[in-house]
Formats: sequence, C-alpha cells, structure tokens
Amino acid sequence: MNVPKIQQTRLFQPGRIGCIDIANRIVMAPLTRCRADEAAGDVPGSDINVEYYRQRSGAGLIVSEGTQVSPRGKGYMATPGIYSDAQVEGWKAITHAVHQAGSKMLAQIWHVGRISHPELTGGLQPFAPSALAPEGVVAYTHQGKRDIPVPLAMSAEQIAEVVGEFRRAAANAMRAGFDGVEIHGANGYLIDQFLRDGTNRRDDAYGGSVAARCRFALEIVDAVVAEIGAARVGIRLSPLTPFNAISDSHPQATFEHLIEQLDRRGVAFIHMIEGATGGSRDLPGFDYAAARKSFRGAYIANNGYDRTLAIDAVESGRADAVAFGRAFLANPDLPSRLRRGAPLNQPDPQSFYTPGPAGYTDYPALDLDEQAAEA
Ligand code: PHB
Repeated sequence: MNVPKIQQTRLFQPGRIGCIDIANRIVMAPLTRCRADEAAGDVPGSDINVEYYRQRSGAGLIVSEGTQVSPRGKGYMATPGIYSDAQVEGWKAITHAVHQAGSKMLAQIWHVGRISHPELTGGLQPFAPSALAPEGVVAYTHQGKRDIPVPLAMSAEQIAEVVGEFRRAAANAMRAGFDGVEIHGANGYLIDQFLRDGTNRRDDAYGGSVAARCRFALEIVDAVVAEIGAARVGIRLSPLTPFNAISDSHPQATFEHLIEQLDRRGVAFIHMIEGATGGSRDLPGFDYAAARKSFRGAYIANNGYDRTLAIDAVESGRADAVAFGRAFLANPDLPSRLRRGAPLNQPDPQSFYTPGPAGYTDYPALDLDEQAAEA
C-alpha cells in the first residue's frame, strides 16, 4: 500500500478505547514471559519487569501478560498473579513506569482452567467445565514436562467462586493503577473451555445451548463491569484457534451470540485473535468483519499483522487498533520502527520463558542518532 504521509496515517494517531485515551493505535499484546518472583508468591514488579514494560511504552496501550486470578488459575511457571496484596504492590511499580512514559495499561486477567497441573497450582486439581483432559498438551513444571491430568468438572458453587475471583482481580487491577482489564477469553483457557462444545459437555445452565455455553463468560463480564465499569473492560477472543486442544462444531454461532451480548453490555473492546494463534490468519469459519460491524466498542485486531496490514486495517476502518505480540517482544521501540518503516529485530523463542534479562530487556532499540538523522 502506498502511504505517503505516514504521520497522518490513523495507526499512528491518537484514539480512544472505552474511556481510555491512547496516543496511537498500536497495542502491545499480552505475552507470557515467566519472570515473576515465584518464591515470593508469583509477585511481579522486579526491576527487569518494570524495565521490560517501560521499554515498550511507545505503544498506545499495553496489555499485561496473563495474570492469574487465583492460585488454581495458574498454568505455567513464574507467571504473575493479581490476587494478593504483594502482587498488587508489584504491579503498581509497573503501571507507574508505563504511565510516566506516556502509555496506558490493562491487566489481562486469566484462569487457565484445565491447562495446568497440581505442581503449578500448589497441589490443587485444575478446574474445567467437564472432566476431559486436553489431548496432546503437556504442562511444564519445575519437575519437567508432565502429562496433564483429568480436570475437575466445576460445581455451580465453584463457578460462582471463580466469577468472584475475576471480580476481585478487576478490583485489584484498579488498586494497582491499571487503566482497566482485558478478560482472557481466548486460546483454550477456562473461559474458552466453557464456550466450546468440544470441551463443555455440561447439561446444566452452563452447557448445551450456545447461550448456556456463553453464560460463564458473561457472568464474569457482568461481575467485572459491576466492579469497574464497562468503559474499562474488554475481552480477548479467538474463535478459530485450535490452540490448547480447543474445538467447536460451530464457532460462528457461538461467537456471534457472545459478541451480541457483549455489545449489549457496552464493553469497551474486543481483542480478536484472527485465525490460529501464532499461525495462519486464513482459516475458514468465522466472519470477523461482520463481528466488527455488530459491535459498537473498539475492535483490536491481532495475529500476524505486519506494518502494511496494520496500516491498512486501521485506515480502512476494519479495526480501531492493532495488537502485536512477538514483534513487540523483540522490538522495544516497535511503534517508532513501524512509523519509519525500519527493519525489525527477530524474536528468539529460546528465551521467551527463561528467567532473567536475556531475551527480555536486552533487545536493542534503534540507535537514537540514526533516528534523529532519519527524522
Ligand atoms: C503461552 O504461555 O504460551 C500462552 C499463554 C497465553 C496465551 C497463549 C499462549 O493466551
């Protein structure tokens, strides 16, 4: 696409998501980095955690890595939580640095459901809508790779308890200085497990019909909205992803209903993983453009966008903003590089989940002198 006046391109212009003013329409997608202080109780906010997010504050909006709403909601080593006071204090250091640098930040509130193991949850049996283990998915624990056990099919009381955990997480996010929350409804984790008929075989009010499978997600949305207001709440969805052994016989019907209900509730945004998470965008079975038209809040597009696709998506009105994951991981100054059409650093998968600064805070930004010369 030919874009002569790059500074006037909408991708780089200010915008608004719900009640949150953003300096540009480039979003940092949530990225699991496994660098919280596990010994201290899954606490974020170390110097390198703060530095990592501060470096990426050129984004109009940052969505935090998934942060579990309770110990049972954890599925990977050293992911941060948002249920204890120590965790809230840790997040405060991060949100403060991001705000000082001129960006906005949401907490991605997360429960992994069956994608876990008792070695990660402090001995608790993972929850799921139905007692079905994910085929071909393993858990990574301090004792090594583990087969994932059959999860506990949640009782109505346990469902209410988890809804309450999401509500508490949203309250904690506001205490921690976040601008709002993104509910993690994607990628085969607990909420997605309820949405799909492949993982939800319940015959009570939370399973069976499309409306029943959407009930858990919508109860969480309602609880979070009651706590912090719809203008600060969005949800991440992935209608077609096969990630984490999720499957659905009719995703168009499931997500059409869910999005209609989200629209009625006036939530601020949908963050859409288009296609297979981290893979092909071109899977048949869901009409993203129709979803975008049926929803009055902001549409954040994600998955495999490059500069040209992102500029085009926002310019054409197909999306209000575009989220970048791995590109942001490897390029702390991604918005500046996109503006200039500069080359990008490539991400190193070997260091995605390893402790310490290597592959975390040491990806180089463009040389400042070089930037000044180009400007
Ligand atoms: C991951 O840790 O690989 C991961 C976590 C959350 C997602 C996707 C991937 O939504």
